[in-house]
Amino acid sequence: MNNLIFWFGVSTGISLVATVQYLVSLREQHQQPTTISTSYKNVPEKSQKQSNEKNLSAVATRPSSPIRGTLLASLDQQLTVTSSKLQKIVLHMVSEFKKGLQNDNEQLAMIPSYVVNRPTGKETGVYLALDLGGTNFRVCRVNLEGYGNIRMNHAKYTISEELKTGTGAQMFDFIADCVAAFCRDNNIPTDNHISLGFTFSFPVLQTAINKGTLTHWSKGFTCSGVVGVDVVDLLQLAFDKKGLKINIKALVNDTVGTLVTHAYTDPQTYIGVILGTGTNAAYVEKSHNIPKWNRDDGEVIINTEWGAYNEPSILPLTTWDRNIDRHTSNPKQQIFEKLISGLYLGEIVRNILVDLIKAGELFSGNGSPALNIPYQFDTAYMSRIERDHSLSLSDTRQLLEDVLNVPNTSYDDRRIVKHVCELVGTRAARLSAAGIAALVTKINRLDACTVAIDGSVYEHYPHFGNRMRDALQEILGITAQNIVMEQARDGSGQGAALIAALA
Ligand code: BGC
Repeated sequence: MNNLIFWFGVSTGISLVATVQYLVSLREQHQQPTTISTSYKNVPEKSQKQSNEKNLSAVATRPSSPIRGTLLASLDQQLTVTSSKLQKIVLHMVSEFKKGLQNDNEQLAMIPSYVVNRPTGKETGVYLALDLGGTNFRVCRVNLEGYGNIRMNHAKYTISEELKTGTGAQMFDFIADCVAAFCRDNNIPTDNHISLGFTFSFPVLQTAINKGTLTHWSKGFTCSGVVGVDVVDLLQLAFDKKGLKINIKALVNDTVGTLVTHAYTDPQTYIGVILGTGTNAAYVEKSHNIPKWNRDDGEVIINTEWGAYNEPSILPLTTWDRNIDRHTSNPKQQIFEKLISGLYLGEIVRNILVDLIKAGELFSGNGSPALNIPYQFDTAYMSRIERDHSLSLSDTRQLLEDVLNVPNTSYDDRRIVKHVCELVGTRAARLSAAGIAALVTKINRLDACTVAIDGSVYEHYPHFGNRMRDALQEILGITAQNIVMEQARDGSGQGAALIAALA
């Protein structure tokens, strides 16, 4: 039926957009907000048999829906992003992208990365790459062998909370120490000006391929003395102090690295996206579309910094989102990121659960001290719960009772918790898809485009990719089939080396 209407629209000359919008409105009239029913393999579960036995009576009286109290009853409505809402977000994001290309200091920074060439596959040489921006810091040795081949080894170092919130000097000294140790362990000479690409995944206004100042921190980092300063200078200073002779050739955002690395093997790649601790996207733009950049020819990769997107009248913000934002180190900033990325999803769920407990609609009103601690409900727990397809939700029980010390959970309780995770996870996936639809629309690549996506949420959160694809289809209709979303890996390491090679 929908296909018929679509082809009727196309053959009678009714515009594609109008046809798609009509289809969307039809869907909304006839459909409940999307719930995903894709079946996934059960993960092995400890003591599932035992838990199943314990829960037989609960299973027998299982309600068809976990919804019972007033707050619960409002959750679907509060957390569901309808197709028409997605359409509005897409249209508005496209106009924000354009504004950001026009002027500095717009909501979306739309930063020219100074990466004006994409790799040919012929690049060769040994490079160091640094990757700072998520949970870990990595030092990599990347060997570009030509013919599209890359070999790489790396070491990971944990960034402690103290480092994240200490001084910039401490952070950059730590980085230099890690580089020195890595080079020592891997027999890499540090007196020879080896070339290095620095992936620094924060909002940086670039002024050259290897220069750029941090505009603000994100993802819980607050190191002092770095905002407004050139981060390559800070790194160089730390290297100089340790006598490391290293040539910092490129400063790279992780989204740009992801795009470049994927384009190395798939030239249809025009967009790189990170859905991990934070979120962001980069894409290939024609220079003449960037009035603020003053160059007429060629193309350049733009780091959108879409995590900063924030239109209160359009984004579906709830009181939980606002409350979480207020208590972050960067209130009123990175609002899109706070709805989508791994740092925040678990915290959104935790806030909702706490309110349900307070309202007496969950765990018979009895929570646990652990549940009351901010950020104690990790996004990885959501993945685990969403992956729990056991009859009695036994893994969810283990998590809630053994890890989070909730005294006693009923089957209904666990269904509610799972439902909250589904709602928050689905909302994130649908908003991510809206961002991608907006970019594809902006560059008018509705006929063919590969989107390279990296990050822990996309890689590990169950159903995330499928939910994005569903939303993309609702937004773009049949055209969504031309958009290929592919898992990308290690753009932050390989990409930095490739860009250093191009520089
Ligand atoms: C940063 C971006 C980065 C993204 C993903 C955001 O918080 O502002 O620069 O690309 O996280 O790591």
